[in-house]
Amino acid sequence: MNIGILGLGSLGSLMAYHWRNHALFVLPRTDISSVNIKVQDQDTLWQTQLPSWQGEPLEWLVVCTKAADTLAALNKWKHLLTQANNILLLQNGMGQQQETVQWLQQQQINTPLWAAMCTEGAYQENDTVIYAGRGSTQIGSWLGSEYLPPQLPKTQYSENIKELLLNKLAINAVINPLTAYWECKNGELVNTPQYKQALIALSEEVAGLYATLSWPLSQPLTELAQQVAIATAANTSSSLQDKLANRPTELPYICGYLLEQAQRIAYDLPLTQFYYHHLSA
Ligand code: PAF
Repeated sequence: MNIGILGLGSLGSLMAYHWRNHALFVLPRTDISSVNIKVQDQDTLWQTQLPSWQGEPLEWLVVCTKAADTLAALNKWKHLLTQANNILLLQNGMGQQQETVQWLQQQQINTPLWAAMCTEGAYQENDTVIYAGRGSTQIGSWLGSEYLPPQLPKTQYSENIKELLLNKLAINAVINPLTAYWECKNGELVNTPQYKQALIALSEEVAGLYATLSWPLSQPLTELAQQVAIATAANTSSSLQDKLANRPTELPYICGYLLEQAQRIAYDLPLTQFYYHHLSA
């Protein structure tokens, strides 16, 4: 299967590793003919050189950029996008899916849009991506189409991808701002009483918005956020990694998205607002 990867950050590189037995192409930002990647999976170091996409037909074009970079990244390749049978957004956050639907319509590109919810953990160390936590990737049609393309390896189909993404968004809306604000590992959010109090307060605030919007949560958010913090205790959250590396965080597509939804119904999210503004400063 031909798969194109747009955005070779830690997640894009990890997916390339998963799909290493397929014909992979990268869609780099600059005009280079290939990209080197290295992924460390426990004792195995996998390294390869992936060719740049020249418009070969793709079964899947997978976007692994940061949410905020989605449209700029797609725009660079718009003259070739009709060569991709399916576009999948594999990113944290919410809001970019709706923006992409609109953008595709404006460009009159009818390629089916898919979204993914991924629980894999990876981070970059120098020029190597470390596969830190095994998880899964569920994908679903963003507009609810029933058409099923050839299965993207190492993913499972979900019929309720929006629910899964909203659930993940709620978890990210608690863990990411708190870990970035306190500059702590995920696990400290449950082990340090002060941080745990903050986790409970923020979870209650976000859960209140979800209840008001009738957005489903698989479990009470205070429990869910603590479970994820414990399960990923040794992780540095993606937002803290970004903050420490002086990169823009994905918080506009996490807290920013929730603040926008709340504003539409005049609902207050004072804690979310506080952390978001502090971290955007
Ligand atoms: O963004 C992240 O870091 C992850 O989604 C999560 C679940 C918070 C674990 O670190």
